[in-house]
Amino acid sequence: MSALTSEQAAARITSLSEALRQHNHRYYVLDNPSISDFEYDRLLRELQSLETAHPHLLRADSPSQRVGATPSDAFAPVRHRLPMLSLGNAMDSEELRAFDERIKRHLQSSGTSYPDAIPYVCEPKFDGLAIELIYEDGVLVCACTRGDGVTGEDVTANVRTIRAIPLRLEPFPGLTTPRILEVRGEAYMPLAAFDAMNNAREARGEAAFKNPRNAAAGSLRQLDPAVTAQRPLSFFAYALGTVEGLEGMTVGSQQHALDLMRAYHFPVYAGIEARSGPDAVIQYWEDTLRQRPGLDMEIDGVVVKVNDQGLQRALGEVSRSPRWAIAMKFPPEQRETQVTDIVITVGRTGALTPSADLAPVLVGGVTVSRATLHNEDEIRRKDVRVGDWVIVQRAGDVIPEVVRVLLDKRPPTASPFVMPTQCPSCGHDADRPEGEAVARCSNPTSCPAQLKERIKHWASRTALDIDGLGEKLVDQLVDAGLVGDVADLYTLTHGQLADLDRLADKSAANLIAAIDTSRTRPLARLLFGLGVRLVGAHVAEVLAEHFGSIEAIAEADADALEAVDEVGPKVAASVFEYLANSEVQDLIRRLRAGGVIFETVQAAQPSADGPDLSGQVWVFTGTLETCTRSEAGQRVKALGAKVTGSVSAKTTVLVAGPGAGSKLKKAQDLGITILDESTFVEMLAME
Ligand code: IVH
Repeated sequence: MSALTSEQAAARITSLSEALRQHNHRYYVLDNPSISDFEYDRLLRELQSLETAHPHLLRADSPSQRVGATPSDAFAPVRHRLPMLSLGNAMDSEELRAFDERIKRHLQSSGTSYPDAIPYVCEPKFDGLAIELIYEDGVLVCACTRGDGVTGEDVTANVRTIRAIPLRLEPFPGLTTPRILEVRGEAYMPLAAFDAMNNAREARGEAAFKNPRNAAAGSLRQLDPAVTAQRPLSFFAYALGTVEGLEGMTVGSQQHALDLMRAYHFPVYAGIEARSGPDAVIQYWEDTLRQRPGLDMEIDGVVVKVNDQGLQRALGEVSRSPRWAIAMKFPPEQRETQVTDIVITVGRTGALTPSADLAPVLVGGVTVSRATLHNEDEIRRKDVRVGDWVIVQRAGDVIPEVVRVLLDKRPPTASPFVMPTQCPSCGHDADRPEGEAVARCSNPTSCPAQLKERIKHWASRTALDIDGLGEKLVDQLVDAGLVGDVADLYTLTHGQLADLDRLADKSAANLIAAIDTSRTRPLARLLFGLGVRLVGAHVAEVLAEHFGSIEAIAEADADALEAVDEVGPKVAASVFEYLANSEVQDLIRRLRAGGVIFETVQAAQPSADGPDLSGQVWVFTGTLETCTRSEAGQRVKALGAKVTGSVSAKTTVLVAGPGAGSKLKKAQDLGITILDESTFVEMLAME
């Protein structure tokens, strides 16, 4: 039992807590500690023993309470009071200027006055994990992830272990403590700490994390906060959410918001700067790109925000992104590595595609060991040889590619790559017609590689969506001679599958069931699944809708096909040629015999239920939440509108969900009406 009275203990606890909070702030936020780690630990232990002796004096926001027990509401959904928006992208300075122009046009048309050079705040785009911290009456009561922007996950217990984050707001001279303060920012793992942690993990025989962002995300999703506490996480604040009851002050700009957060002891990045007009912003972007290699965190661009909140309000938002802010991305990361081999893969149309096998290298946070070389001309143009040192790059989610060869490092033994004249899968000749970039295997009917790729395409999610029929299983089915084309899938028996290596009884039954389900997919999916050249998912839908049945398509000549909206002469010729082929006709007969239903679709009739959209042209882009894009399209078609896949001057309305990219930008530039999903749903009164 402590020798102190309850009052004495309370006083000591208050002063120890105060001192520890200040030391935390100096250490984790200001990077300027005034006592040793040893001294800090001594103060913390004294506090802990007093709190153990006087449990009624223990407060939730005590500096000793960073690590608690696993709460029962871990990862429970938390609805944000204000949605957490996402950001549109500018890929280069031209797109940044277009953003600045858009802002001015919008302000002008809404009658808002604005200065010649718009004042912006420029910040790094931190590559971590967005979180929201909610303080009620000055105490951290909830921390949650961004989630889909509307609802995130409760990660309070884990976030409390991040020492850079205050558990309570420091009293602010001259201000009342706000009733509610929501601080938004990025949780991240500093690079030096990430490396040290990974080294230690490897030394212990544990798996290393792939990159700092995964490490940060994984750490915040731990069930046990004691594990999170061991992970070197940090935080930068960059925005406010709801602010209520902050008397004596209004937040009128982004700079103001940053100052306020800094004053409340949140870590705010020191290199954030106010810049007016696009030239100064581009300069900031260039400076930051140059500084990037020396920073102790991953950043993938610069976030540019209109400073003044009055202007922000006048600009508003579109499809969950503010019009007043943009992420100006850095160019793709490039790394040096060595080509260990050049391999040729055969696609479902027989195209031979060369790729480079590489000595594994970390590019933009992902380990890359293969990069595409596109085609023979590309290899020749870049003169890539086995043994060469090359620059590889990776941008976003695209396939990594070889940018160029480092000729001064070329080994003397490296000889020019010769494209094979035979298909590496079946040995038939590979033809490359005059004027075409791609060489193709001349054996469409029995080349195993093409067969496998065609079956994989047929089974894929956007086509017939046969759950469980993955790459390995397709290889096995073809290699065992059980499947020679997609029609053979529909005569497979449980017994045949069960004989395959490593296929459990239950998986065989599941696969048979999944194949059965695929017998009744819509006509458009079947058309797409057949893999007709130049017929993507959208064109397949257009054809299915126009003709209604496979017979009607087969009866149409090239002119009739070309008369369909969005079907050009090349597509028409390809479809005509495909369906005129007797082998294809036989395949369709056998699919039908196997129970596949080539349904007949009723051409959409305008319905009176809703606004009249006749004569209008609609485009959908990004992700929709209440329905699929195709369902939304059916709905507006039923009201008389036409739906197309691309934005042009003829477009009447663009419906843009999160993730919208170039179509949204084009629609903005063309001044086309843009709806977000909720406005769209409201307008059509659909559920
Ligand atoms: S502000 C209204 N500022 O970018 C704009 N976001 O697309 C809301 N991010 O995942 C975000 N650095 O985590 C803002 N300085 C910064 C940022 C930043 C990184 C991330 C954020 C979110 C995404 C928004």
